Amino acid sequence: MMEKLEKASSSSSAVNLSQLFITLTSDVMSKVALGRKYSSGEGTVDIKTLVRTFTQIFGTFPIGEFIPSLVWIDWIRRLDGKVEEISTTFDDFLEEVVQEHDVDTDKKGSDFVATLLSIQREKMTPFVFDRSDIKLIILDMFIAGTATTSSQLEWTMTELMRHPECMKKLRDEICSVSTHNSYVNEGDVEKMSYLNAVIKETLHLHPPLPALVPHLLSEDVRVKGYDIAAGTQVMINAWAIQPDHATWGPDAEEFKPERHLNSSLDFQGQDFKFIPFGSGRRLCPGIRLGLVLVEVTIANLVKRFDWRVQVGPDGVDKPDLAEAAGIEACRKYPLIVFPSSVVFPI
Ligand code: HEM
Repeated sequence: MMEKLEKASSSSSAVNLSQLFITLTSDVMSKVALGRKYSSGEGTVDIKTLVRTFTQIFGTFPIGEFIPSLVWIDWIRRLDGKVEEISTTFDDFLEEVVQEHDVDTDKKGSDFVATLLSIQREKMTPFVFDRSDIKLIILDMFIAGTATTSSQLEWTMTELMRHPECMKKLRDEICSVSTHNSYVNEGDVEKMSYLNAVIKETLHLHPPLPALVPHLLSEDVRVKGYDIAAGTQVMINAWAIQPDHATWGPDAEEFKPERHLNSSLDFQGQDFKFIPFGSGRRLCPGIRLGLVLVEVTIANLVKRFDWRVQVGPDGVDKPDLAEAAGIEACRKYPLIVFPSSVVFPI
């Protein structure tokens, strides 16, 4: 990714940063979960395109499920057909991945699929755990980790480009910690409190999963006088809770990383006003992996390049904030930018 950006910088060309981010996160998640990359040219399937299609379909409102008399709208949109197609494509792909691991037993324990297969072969679980369970676990982890992390990267760069004073403050911090001329690494970012605040503030204003994932009540409850029966599906609107003026103050909707400096507010699901990773037993299991990837990527992008967007016909030279509809709130339009390399003292 950095090499592509260097090239674009030397030829003063535009780059689709959204595309680069989804490729980066799907490559990292492929290597962690599947053992190798599956971006185009390196496997039979272009996994990043599959992920985008999946999140788009998953985010489509199935009107017939809520208003049965309008089910014909879903038929016209071929919703069931599209779900069927994407699920078959994913199943074929995951079958190929599992078979590859079945044949190559040297992979034992070297990645997530290999670990799951050896747990299954050695019957290490007290419950039955078959091939389709393995495929579903990989799919869950892969989809959940890829789209969220890339959307978080997109929004962080968007907000930094809209707030040059924050970008400058962040670069000063990065350069004071990472004084060498090589890439910023995981150890470096641990010492960057402003970077951490920038990421938290982006999660505050742009939670990648604005309605978390659907939860199901395991028992009857009463909330503010309303009786809700066990088995009811509950959607939690983090997108509405997080910019709420009543809990965050009058500047709740402004991008202000400073509010997180010297604040004990965290996102591990303990404080319900800030739940970008959810809460309770379904809390995101990938918080550390997602955050480290975002921190290291942003630190390198900000350290190495100056960023600008094409000035629009209306004279605006900042990226817009339009959000796509769907389960995942990524940018509606791709982030097209011009990077230019920064020369910094060694
Ligand atoms: C910035 C990045 C990320 C964000 C904002 C995020 C956010 C979330 C949220 C909001 C949920 C739903 C929790 C709930 O409803 O209570 C979730 C679930 C999940 N996340 Fe993440 N996530 C991120 C990165 C990752 C990564 C890198 C992985 C993979 C290693 C991952 C794996 C999962 C899985 C497997 C679930 C589903 C858990 C279940 O089925 O209950 N996430 N994530």
